[in-house]
Amino acid sequence: MAVTKTLCRINDIPDGGAIEVGVVSERDSIRDSLMLTRSGVAVRAYRNICPHAGRPLDWSPGQFLIEDGFVICTAHGAMFRLESGECVSGPCRGAHLASVAVESRGDEVVLESGE
Ligand code: FES
Repeated sequence: MAVTKTLCRINDIPDGGAIEVGVVSERDSIRDSLMLTRSGVAVRAYRNICPHAGRPLDWSPGQFLIEDGFVICTAHGAMFRLESGECVSGPCRGAHLASVAVESRGDEVVLESGE
């Protein structure tokens, strides 16, 4: 059965920026870290894991290095396009961040899961 979880309000995400949100699985209580990013009313979510060496993308909890539509993994400098998650520069060029399906409902951002 599909379950929706409210992650945050849209305005919690700075336009052009990103925040970190933790989602705890009801099945196994494991916390999954997501990076939510916004461009206007468009919200995207990715797992907060770099495909290069599996490090979190944020250099400090919830602190992402964002420049001109890109997020940079501070571990080894991989640069990802926020609108697609594609790595355009760095050690995992051509790889993608793992996207997570979210949608805007009113002023909230919700996650739909299969739990
Ligand atoms: S872990 Fe992100 S660039 Fe290496």
